[in-house]
Amino acid sequence: METIYYKTGSGDDGEAFSRAGGIIRSGGLVAFPTETVYGLGGNAYSSESSRKIYAAKGRPQDNPLIVHVARPEDASEFAVVNGAYEKLAAAFMPGPLTVILPKKPNMPDSTTGGLATVAVRCPSHPAARALIEAARCPIAAPSANLSGKPSPTSAAHVARDLDGRIDMIIDGGECEIGLESTVISIDGGTVRILRPGAVTREMLANAGIEASVDEAVCDPAKAGEKPASPGMKYKHYAPDAPLYLVEGGTDELLAEARQAALTPAAVMCRSDEEECFAGFIVLDTGEDEAEFARRLFSLLRRADESGAKSIYAHLPSREGIGLALYNRIIRAAAGKIIKRP
Ligand code: TXA
Ligand code: MG
Repeated sequence: METIYYKTGSGDDGEAFSRAGGIIRSGGLVAFPTETVYGLGGNAYSSESSRKIYAAKGRPQDNPLIVHVARPEDASEFAVVNGAYEKLAAAFMPGPLTVILPKKPNMPDSTTGGLATVAVRCPSHPAARALIEAARCPIAAPSANLSGKPSPTSAAHVARDLDGRIDMIIDGGECEIGLESTVISIDGGTVRILRPGAVTREMLANAGIEASVDEAVCDPAKAGEKPASPGMKYKHYAPDAPLYLVEGGTDELLAEARQAALTPAAVMCRSDEEECFAGFIVLDTGEDEAEFARRLFSLLRRADESGAKSIYAHLPSREGIGLALYNRIIRAAAGKIIKRP
């Protein structure tokens, strides 16, 4: 199929979004920007649309999709909402937060991977919101990458993976956050982070919500056969070259990269460290962990294109956005962490 491209602001947005909404309503797939990563959207109420999403991505059918709504209260149409959801929604929606709720019978099993629960997210990105409004239905959307590739943070990433496999790509520029939303479950009174994101544990605590962190977040092996979040059990985002995470500062990273057996070696380092890594393929992670988070998926794709035979990076902290970065990068590294003696 021929994929239609539209860049927001390049023409009549109203007309483009009504066309995109029509595609979703009639069972087609549209990739769109969100504040986290690009999503691959289809009508959440249509089993056929969900099947098409799995097929386009090459994604296992038991990995459930997130359902996107324009307003937090719209979730009650297909999910059983509760006080904890309302509190989370009041504090963090619209925004990079996904909440798992019991599903109502009108939400098809093919969208929820056969689970009795449904994941609800209300994105803040204006293009995502405009698309949901135009579609007049909730939009099921996983990240718009081929299964096993890094989540896309630009329309060019989406095009590389899905051109010719989906009906339309809406280009809204680079994603502001760069890592997928925080996924939270509510069991009775306890709130648990299944996947960390830009709504951090610290931010939840500041809003009076004490959340525990699922043990699979920092230790993928603990995801087991029946993980709380099925997505956690799949190998994710692994670059072609082995990625090693080095505990410590600039000196430790340099010492490890110098001993690389597989060359050329690439180094992911902060902008201020670049001059220390002459002779390596340098992948600039920016000034701080928020910038590293924003760039991570793009850098993993660049690492593949650079011809590097091995990659060395700092092991992130587990604080604030660092926890989300840690969660993604240890999966990309398949657990290869070099600790200080
Ligand atoms: O930021 C995001 O969340 C992006 C944008 C497009 O909104 N979407 C996204 O979707 O990252 P995806 O499909 O790549 O990741 C969804 C995650 C998976 O780990 C999945 O297992 C989990 O959410 N999930 C979805 N429904 C669930 C459910 N009912 N129970 C537990 N986990 C669920
Ligand atoms: Mg994904």
